[in-house]
Amino acid sequence: MDSIAPVTPVPHESDPLVVRGPRLMLRYATLEDAPRLFDLATDPAVTRFFSWGPYTTIEQPEAYINAQPAKRESGEILDFLVVDPDDGPIGVTGLAEIAKRDRRATVGSWLGHRWWGSGANVEAKAMIAALAFRRLGVERLTAWANTRNGRSQRALERIGFRREGVLNGWHRHGDQVHDVVVYGMLAAAWERSPLHAVDVTIEGTPPPAFMVGPAASQ
Ligand SMILES: CC(C)(COP(=O)(O)OP(=O)(O)OC[C@H]1O[C@@H](n2cnc3c(N)ncnc32)[C@H](O)[C@@H]1OP(=O)(O)O)[C@@H](O)C(=O)NCCC(=O)NCCS
Repeated sequence: MDSIAPVTPVPHESDPLVVRGPRLMLRYATLEDAPRLFDLATDPAVTRFFSWGPYTTIEQPEAYINAQPAKRESGEILDFLVVDPDDGPIGVTGLAEIAKRDRRATVGSWLGHRWWGSGANVEAKAMIAALAFRRLGVERLTAWANTRNGRSQRALERIGFRREGVLNGWHRHGDQVHDVVVYGMLAAAWERSPLHAVDVTIEGTPPPAFMVGPAASQ
């Protein structure tokens, strides 16, 4: 009789990360969230500076969600939905470009247009920064902002990111080449920033590929 190998549960998927702030929480997206992501990111204002979007079919957010477990496993992307207790999912924030040796990661976020200027961005950034610095061992967060995306630049500066310069031709979206402002926040600066004052709790098991602290590099 053929034996079927037991499926070993992956701890970071069976005990997923959940990050809680005073009002909002971060959790992984599931396929049930696809219609909501579709609604939020069919707005061209939201995706104007991104390599993707706006969404035009439901299959696009479905494909995004389906790709996430493998990206968590490989260390490519650790994305979360930003969830409001009344409104449900309102956007996405996450970490990418993890460099274990240098203990750094890049943070990126977007919110549905309705939640711009609501304070949600600050809380979402406080949650993802606490996860990075407190739990994963990150020592530096980088953030990119298109040179034409003044709103994103102001948002990063307001929460304590330091403008470090402009990288010409840094991002390519299809045939279009974009100059970006590079922002950085070191762990010590995070501790002095408004993000650090936000009460954040972290539950669950991080994907090992994103653990960049000393224990992870042994
Ligand atoms: C980038 C993004 C996440 C920033 O969020 P945001 O809410 O627009 O920006 P801020 O957090 O700086 O908040 C903006 C305004 O809300 C105000 N605000 C902040 N907290 C607030 C609160 N608790 N209550 C009310 N207003 C608040 C700020 O004072 C600011 O006002 P001002 O613009 O008049 O100075 C959002 O604009 C977005 O999703 N943009 C599209 C995607 C994108 O470009 N992402 C970045 C890629 S690099």
